[in-house]
Amino acid sequence: MADPKRELEPRFDAALRAAFGDELAGTDPVLRRSDRADYQADVAMGLAKRLGKPPRVIAQAIVDALDMKGICEKVEVAGPGFVNLTLAPDWLAREAKKLAEDPRGGVALASRPETVVIDYSAPNVAKEMHVGHVRSTVIGDALARVLEAVGHRVIRQNHLGDWGTPFGMLIEHLLDVGAEAAEAANVSDLDAFYRAARAKFDADPAFAERSRQRVVLLQGGDEKTLALWRQLVDTSKRYFGAVYAKLGVTLKDADICGESHYNPLLAGVVSELEAKGLAKESDGAICVFPAGFTNKEGEPLPLIVRKQDGGYGYATTDLAAIRERTQTLKATRILYCVGAPQQQHFAMVFAAAKDAGWLAEPARAEHVAFGSILGPDKKMFKTREGGTVKLSALLDEAIERAGAAVKEKNPELDDATRASVARQIGIGAIKYADLSSDRIKDYIFDWDRMLAFDGNTAAYLQYAHARIRSIFRKADPADAAAAATSAIVLREPAERALALELLGLESAVASVAETLQPHRLCTFLFAVATRFSTFFEQCPVLKADDEATRRSRLALSELTAKTLAKALDLLGIEAPERM
Ligand code: ARG
Repeated sequence: MADPKRELEPRFDAALRAAFGDELAGTDPVLRRSDRADYQADVAMGLAKRLGKPPRVIAQAIVDALDMKGICEKVEVAGPGFVNLTLAPDWLAREAKKLAEDPRGGVALASRPETVVIDYSAPNVAKEMHVGHVRSTVIGDALARVLEAVGHRVIRQNHLGDWGTPFGMLIEHLLDVGAEAAEAANVSDLDAFYRAARAKFDADPAFAERSRQRVVLLQGGDEKTLALWRQLVDTSKRYFGAVYAKLGVTLKDADICGESHYNPLLAGVVSELEAKGLAKESDGAICVFPAGFTNKEGEPLPLIVRKQDGGYGYATTDLAAIRERTQTLKATRILYCVGAPQQQHFAMVFAAAKDAGWLAEPARAEHVAFGSILGPDKKMFKTREGGTVKLSALLDEAIERAGAAVKEKNPELDDATRASVARQIGIGAIKYADLSSDRIKDYIFDWDRMLAFDGNTAAYLQYAHARIRSIFRKADPADAAAAATSAIVLREPAERALALELLGLESAVASVAETLQPHRLCTFLFAVATRFSTFFEQCPVLKADDEATRRSRLALSELTAKTLAKALDLLGIEAPERM
C-alpha cells in the first residue's frame, strides 16, 4: 500500500523536468487533499515568478506533460492554476487490498532506525501526580508506542523526583508517625503526608533542624537513613505503578531511573565542566552560562550546577542524564515530555550539554512541551477545594461515568463486559482528550465532551470499531470468512472516499514519529471514522444485492476496523469488540 502522495510526487517531478527543464528537478509539487478532487497541486503558483508565466499556463504545461496512467482517472487545471487530480478507483482498490494484506498493518519502518530515549511521566516521590504528570505520561507513552512501531529502539526513562532536600523532612516525619501509618497515608494520600511534613518543618524549629541534619546523613550515605528513604520511594513507586496499570501505560518499574540514580555522577559532571572551562564561580555557586540566554537586564543567565552550600540541583542531574543517555545508552534522539514552563530549563541544559560535547551530532535532544489542563473556569485544573486532583480518583470517575453511559446505550451488556468496556472507554476518553489537541496548547478538562459518543472523541472511534465488529457478528459466516480474501471494488463515492482515507495511515504514523505530535494520528482516526459512517449510511453492507459487493464491503469494513484498532493502540487506547 502506499500514500498516494508518494506515488504522485515522482510523476510531477518528471513532468516538471519535461516541461521546464532539469533545473526544476526536486521541486515540491505542493500536493494536498482537496474537496474538489482527491488532490490538488499548487506548484504552478509558486513557479509563476520564476518562470515569468501565468500560473494557469504553467499548470496546463504540467498537465500536458504528466503521465498519470494507471493511477489517476482525471487530471485538470482548475481555478487560478491548481492541478486537480482524481485517483482511479482501480488503483485505490488495489492499494486498499495491499493494505489489508500487509503484515505490518500499514505501518512502515523508518528508513534510519535509531535509539530513542523518552523521558516521561517523572512524578515526584511522596507527592500526588499532578495533571502535568498525566499529560507527560499519556503523551510520552503514545510517542513510545509510535516510535517503537516504526522500528526505533525506544528506551523509556521515568526520571522520578526521588532525591533532594525535601527528603530530610519526609524521613523525619516518617520516623515520627511510624512506618505502618506512613505507608497507609502515603499510598492513599501522598500529598497529605507531604503537607504534614512541610507544616511541621515550618512550625517547629527543632523538627526543621532534625530535617536538615537528616539531609546531611542522606547525602553522606548513612545506611539507616538510606533505608528510610528507600521505604518512602518504594511506597510511592507502588502507587505510581498502580496508576500506570489502571491507565494502561507501558511504563514498568525497570524504566524508573530517578534523580537519585545520577547522584554519584554529579561531582564528576561539575569537574568535567570546570576542566572544559565551561563552569565558573559566581556568588559562591558554580555556574555555566550558555550563550544566548540573558535576563531582562541583558546579563548572562546562569545554569547553577553546584549551589553555594555545595549541593547539586535539578540542572546538574539533567546534565548527568544527557551524558549517560548519549554515552552509555547510545541514544541519538532524546525526548523530554515535560510541561512548557520548563522550556528555558531544557534549552539551557541542552546548550550546556552541547558545549560540553555530551550532545553532539547525530544526537539531539527535543523538549516535547505541552500546555496545561484547565478546569471549566479556565484556570489550572484543581479540586473544588483548590487541591491537586488525585489522579487515581480521576481515573475511577472516568470509568464510572463511562459505565453509566454504556449502560444507557446498551443495557443488554452483561456486568462483566460492561465493567471492562467502561474501563476501556473511560481511560480512552482521558487519553484521547489529551492527545487530540495540539499538545502545546492548554485544554479544558470537560467530562461531557470527552465522553461524548459523537465528535472527535475516543468513544466515537471505539464505537465505530465496535459497530464493525457487530456487523461481522451478524454477517453470514461464509461472507465474513471470505471478506479477508475477497476483492475490494470501489463503485460508490463513499466507498472510494473511505479507501482513500485508510491509505493515510502510514503517513499519519510517520508524521507523528517525526513531529512528535500525536494529534495528527487523532485527526487521521477521526477522518476514517467519519468516512466510515458515511459509507455505512450510503452503502448497505449485509443487505448489498450481490455476493461480490457484500464481500467487498465487508472487506472494506474489516480494513477500517483493523486500521482504527491499530491507530488507537498506537495512542495507548483499547478498542472494545462491543459496547
Ligand atoms: N519531576 C519533574 C517535575 O515533576 C519532572 C522531570 C522531568 N524530566 C527531567 N529529566 N527533568 O516537574
